[in-house]
Amino acid sequence: MIIVIIGAQWGDEGKGKVVDLLADRFDVIARYQGGHNAGHSVYVGERAFVLRLLPSGIIHPDKVCVLGNGMVIEPKAFFEEIDQIAEQGVEVSPERLKVSSRAHLIMPYHKALDHTSEERLGNEKIGTTLRGIGPAYEDKAGRRGIRVADALSPELLKLRVERNLEEANRIIALFGNQPLRSDEILEEMTPLIERLRPFVTETSHFFAEAKKANKKILLEGAQATLLDVDHGTYPYVTSSNPTAGGASVGAGIPPHHISGVLGIVRTYATRVGEGPFPTEMLDAEEGIAHLIRERGNEYGSVTKRPRRCGWFDAVSTRYAAELNGFDSIALTKLDVLDELDEIKVCVGYDINGGTTNTMPAASSDLRQIKPVYETLPGWKSDTVGTTDFAKLPENAQRYVNFLSERVGVEIGLISTGPERDQTIIINASTMDGWFS
Ligand code: GDP
Ligand code: IMO
Ligand code: MG
Repeated sequence: MIIVIIGAQWGDEGKGKVVDLLADRFDVIARYQGGHNAGHSVYVGERAFVLRLLPSGIIHPDKVCVLGNGMVIEPKAFFEEIDQIAEQGVEVSPERLKVSSRAHLIMPYHKALDHTSEERLGNEKIGTTLRGIGPAYEDKAGRRGIRVADALSPELLKLRVERNLEEANRIIALFGNQPLRSDEILEEMTPLIERLRPFVTETSHFFAEAKKANKKILLEGAQATLLDVDHGTYPYVTSSNPTAGGASVGAGIPPHHISGVLGIVRTYATRVGEGPFPTEMLDAEEGIAHLIRERGNEYGSVTKRPRRCGWFDAVSTRYAAELNGFDSIALTKLDVLDELDEIKVCVGYDINGGTTNTMPAASSDLRQIKPVYETLPGWKSDTVGTTDFAKLPENAQRYVNFLSERVGVEIGLISTGPERDQTIIINASTMDGWFS
């Protein structure tokens, strides 16, 4: 059994919590795209973890985790994270962490180029995490990237770094920034690569063997559908494919071996960085946005940037459901809305006087649309930690059912707090077998 978990909105839906919750039912947990731009928070009792590069399953000591070929990996960030969780009592060895030999490396000049590119865009900047993600994927597509397997050869690494840096430095200098030195990069990288060596694995073969041995595999998407480079709100996107198809390519697993897709959907929407956000709560609703931001702790897990908050958008979420083929949905953060009098849900887009419920391809169109809202009554009572659907206030049940109907997918799980046990598991038929 191979299941993919994918965010349906603009990220931070609570993928980390859900992956951690389900990890016990799986043998292998893997990431297939992105890098340390992700921030997946997991709370286990007193301990709080923020996973950036490592799959959220890593904190379960008996699980094997994989960083797939579709990822971009910064070696320093990789070991910082391993050392950080070791301090928190989680030991990671190459026996239970595999890094694809085909994954690409993020080099110091990628980070510098990310800064330069954002500076150059000025008012039109993307608002990236400045981790070098975009430039590393540019090098991959430009066929000059440095893959993990290449870096294992010191001669090849030197050759590639020197060649790529020459070009990168030209761009960096053009914007008056400090050029980088290849000897310093190599000095920093060499010991990190040596430390990485035992983790390096031919991971698609590893997955094939795991499948043959009837192991259960969970693929953990980072970022989310609306940040997908093909299907998201381009150009305000990340540079990888978090969507379901990307899981097959980025893990190196045949598409027909994937048994199901679980969408992670928040009861409201947020966005970090720039880009169109039709249901964003602007000045008039800043009070509600503030309440949600504080109750929902809507600050970047890594960058600490305040997240832009908005109402649930059933148009874009239904688009995500269709695109990924969600078999079921995990609906997160129900408790965050506990205090609201009324809750709005965007059920259509008004574009030049006509109403549509399909997602426009152009960000310029998305900026123009006016959301068509339906307003539902709030429940004004505490749902934190509820574990039984029948015990939810009637209006909360109604809200959940309304979202499910509008998105067109059953809700299999509802999250009512950041902790593992603050969860309602609904016995939806589509979930049979996944969570047993
Ligand atoms: P991810 O990137 O999708 O893994 O999400 P993040 O971890 O970046 O952000 C989600 C935040 O919401 C984290 O701080 C989680 O601990 C928290 N969270 C997840 N589910 C719930 C929930 O049901 N209720 C509340 N109040 N917080 C939640
Ligand atoms: P998780 O996995 C929310 C956003 C950035 C920026 C855009 C491009 O925690 O949900 P990048 O550095 O990737 O080139 O930035 O994508 N972004 C995220 N937003 N959650 C994330 O990850 C994100 N990863 C990238 O804010 O708008
Ligand atoms: Mg996050």
